[in-house]
Amino acid sequence: MPRTRLIAGNWKMNKTPQETETYIRAFLPLLNPGRNVDVLLIPAYPSLDRAGACLQDTEVLLGAQDLFYEASGAFTGAVSAEMVRASGCTYVLAGHSERRHVFGDTDEAVRRKVTAALEGGLRTILCVGETLEERKAEHTSSVLVRQLTSALTGRGLAEMSTLSIAYEPVWAIGTGETATPDQAQDAIAEIREWLRTQFADVVADETLILYGGSVKPANIVDLIAQPDIDGGLVGGASLDPESFARIIEGAAP
Ligand code: PGA
Repeated sequence: MPRTRLIAGNWKMNKTPQETETYIRAFLPLLNPGRNVDVLLIPAYPSLDRAGACLQDTEVLLGAQDLFYEASGAFTGAVSAEMVRASGCTYVLAGHSERRHVFGDTDEAVRRKVTAALEGGLRTILCVGETLEERKAEHTSSVLVRQLTSALTGRGLAEMSTLSIAYEPVWAIGTGETATPDQAQDAIAEIREWLRTQFADVVADETLILYGGSVKPANIVDLIAQPDIDGGLVGGASLDPESFARIIEGAAP
């Protein structure tokens, strides 16, 4: 079964609920109904409700940027899987590099977040990727394997069927510097082979693996042409509805 491409817009700490509504009203008419690309919007928590209302009766998916692994209790500032679901999301990110590097999420915390998300019935996008120092030291493979092993070891096939992966080299995020299509393909092919050896052919062949890091209308076509790249996790270029719609158009098979 061919993997359906996915373009996800991670808005990070941008857009109020009102700005979210304005964006979505401008964005929806730009989408080609026959596009054959899944589209996912990932606004900040306070905008999820409004986004969900604006996206009703559309095929655009809604996701959250993070979650905490506990179900409830004295965890100031945190949001549970159930809350994410109740806000209308079917998707959630776990292990985004800004969570890892700005907020100190460890591999262990990411593992617990993935568990909470999957148990909470959320389709989960696990983000992995190396820093510039790690790439220069030729540690890219070992970093990816460490992050994947920590987050995914021991998971069953049913869980893996609702998990996607985003390869996001930290040095390419928000820097304007994109990995070349070859660099992205090489890392993503390695991730797919890791899935094959750790799980099964079906997991390797069916898991969606996205590239993220300065994806723009100008580079999506070359990235998506790579055999193992199934879509993009887009930050900055998803903040403008026209640029995001052009990326989706460029990703169409
Ligand atoms: P960017 O962000 O497209 O602004 O580089 C990507 C991401 O962090 O998901």
